[in-house]
Amino acid sequence: MDNVANYLEKNNEKLLKELFDFLRIPSISSEKEHKEDVKSAANWIIRNFQEIVFDKVQLIETEGHPLVYAEWNGAGKDAKTVLVYGHYDVQPVDPIELWESSPFEPFIKDGKIVARGSADDKGQLFTHLKAAEFYLKSEGKLPVNLKFIIEGEEEASESHIDEFIEQNPELLKSDVVVISDTEWFYYGMPSICYGLRGISYFELEVTGPNRDLHSGSFGGAVDNPIQVLAWIINQMKDKYGRIAIPGFYDDVLELTEMERENFNKLPFDLTEYKADLGVKEVNGEMGFSTLERIWARPTFDVNGIKGGYIGAGQKTVLPSKASAKFSFRLVPNQKSEDIAKKVSKFIQMVAPPTVKINLKVMSGANPVLVDPNGPAIKSCITSLEKAFGKEVVFMREGGSIPVVETFTKVLHAPVVLMGLGLPNDNIHSPNESFSVDNFFGGIKASAYFLKEFSNNIK
Ligand code: BES
Ligand code: MN
Ligand code: MN
Repeated sequence: MDNVANYLEKNNEKLLKELFDFLRIPSISSEKEHKEDVKSAANWIIRNFQEIVFDKVQLIETEGHPLVYAEWNGAGKDAKTVLVYGHYDVQPVDPIELWESSPFEPFIKDGKIVARGSADDKGQLFTHLKAAEFYLKSEGKLPVNLKFIIEGEEEASESHIDEFIEQNPELLKSDVVVISDTEWFYYGMPSICYGLRGISYFELEVTGPNRDLHSGSFGGAVDNPIQVLAWIINQMKDKYGRIAIPGFYDDVLELTEMERENFNKLPFDLTEYKADLGVKEVNGEMGFSTLERIWARPTFDVNGIKGGYIGAGQKTVLPSKASAKFSFRLVPNQKSEDIAKKVSKFIQMVAPPTVKINLKVMSGANPVLVDPNGPAIKSCITSLEKAFGKEVVFMREGGSIPVVETFTKVLHAPVVLMGLGLPNDNIHSPNESFSVDNFFGGIKASAYFLKEFSNNIK
């Protein structure tokens, strides 16, 4: 079994070359121009599974981007079944001018593979394919039955995987779902994530007069939609950093003292955090630490705002329209549908009669907590510790992985968030990267996990 280290050493160049080929495909799911590239990435994975020699490898078309399904069932009926989820789509690259080199021309710098999608999620996902390859090429078999379901719409606003899972519970039936799409607390500190926030995403358009007006002739007499929009946005949070929407906190699961203590034990350095971000002070909900705010408290953020004149020089205009995109991160046990209703009601209530408003609910995902004490997690701890030679820490994340809730609900299998990213990987930002150590260590950890989990009692 410790052949995995040998295998990695022998195949070091091949493994990196393959990952680089995968990273070269600009599979940006939210940009229409890249539709074919997204499909090429799906087909690239299919070919990779065929080389590894999986029993069944399928491209599954959806109304959006395709899913990839693969399975190897040679361990037999009595063996455990592991399902791996990941996503092969990536975020857009803008602002492109801040990249040190082309986002789809991977290279290694300071021990990190730099490319869009390297950490989120192609590099992390790929570790599981390569762990399977190690077993099949060097031992001819895997210790468990292994299935993969890989999507190309995680970063897009519409996704079809949930529907597919709901319609195919038998196909996806498994004893555990393994996902590597989260981060460690720190470099050299292997971490297991047991909580993700949810999200509720909106677009609000405010329309005032039926056309742009001269601000001299009309200013002071007609409401300005940009200012109304800004005013509405300001009503959403109070001066204590709490969201002011009635009923918003109704279902929030409060942190236990025990959990707060555990957060506190993590080596979080606020001074370093501020310096890294270039901010003088942090700010958030009163009464909570920074980690608590990110991991266990809901928030409201405006993601973009549009309206009026921002060209060269000046234009004395009172614009007809303004719009904003904004979102709430949710925590257990909030439900995105319930939040959407409360937000709509609140905006109807506070919007002045001088404007028309149009609120679009764009997407939602519920928050999740996974059981940090189950047998699957035990196997995960052991494998990470063996692979990286360091003690595992438990953490939560502020980000969201929408499909996790669906896996839990439909498959009734525990989900293990065995992330391999690092906090400075710049996911969704310029110069995204993935640690070379975590790539190879991740392959090891995945291989150990399959072995460890195969020995668990059913
Ligand atoms: N891998 C991330 C989720 C994540 C973010 C994990 C940060 C750990 C730290 C995932 O690909 C992602 O970006 N999710 C989106 C989902 C949203 C578009 C519904 C997110 O969290 O914004
Ligand atoms: Mn991701
Ligand atoms: Mn992402």
